[in-house]
Amino acid sequence: MNPQTLSVREAIIGRRSIKKFNGQPVDREVLMKIIDDAVWAPNHQNRQPWRLVAACGEEILELHKLLRDTAIPRWKDLSEESLEKQMQKFTLPGAYAFVIVPEDVRQKQRLEDFAAASTFIQNFQLLAWDMGIGSCWKTPDFLDKPEFREALGVKPGERIISMLQLGYFDELPKAMERKKSDEIVTFFGRNQKNND
Ligand SMILES: Cc1cc2nc3c(=O)[nH]c(=O)nc-3n(C[C@H](O)[C@H](O)[C@H](O)COP(=O)(O)O)c2cc1C
Repeated sequence: MNPQTLSVREAIIGRRSIKKFNGQPVDREVLMKIIDDAVWAPNHQNRQPWRLVAACGEEILELHKLLRDTAIPRWKDLSEESLEKQMQKFTLPGAYAFVIVPEDVRQKQRLEDFAAASTFIQNFQLLAWDMGIGSCWKTPDFLDKPEFREALGVKPGERIISMLQLGYFDELPKAMERKKSDEIVTFFGRNQKNND
């Protein structure tokens, strides 16, 4: 397994969401290592409000079948060729991790848990990036479909907040510009004065 090569800053700034993978599988032990490290995410009261359903070995073929059945509407009368093309966005990632969060009935806890799980996902993506593995956090509508939830064993009171596709890639996408600090920060007290 690769030793760490990137500084935290390099990983944060250099990471890109990867949406085009090259089909190389991701080993189970690599995936589990990423998860074992990502769990050091901040979370309130150490509730660790996340669990994952992953696929990276033979089970990934079974997942492709589920994705085809749930993601591509049956009414779409596709030729074999265009179905295969559409399916590439599902078949080329080397592994999958669905992140599942409990939906606490108390709003504060529910929001905290969602926030904590989001930091877990950021950790996951940065750790993967450091190993040369790209990923993308995806939220397709089918994550909430009853048949999809059932197939993943998602219980009432839980929600899938992310379909993480991960894998190796050949092209680095261009960065999307971000706002600079002076565009998003106002210093306490000064703002009102400026507006007088
Ligand atoms: C909550 C969340 C949901 C996202 N859902 C999708 C999605 O459904 N499909 C997709 O292609 N990208 C999705 N993304 C990835 C963003 O499109 C991506 O982060 C954005 O393009 C910025 O690119 P970068 O991560 O390379 O900086 C999502 C990201 C987040 C944080």
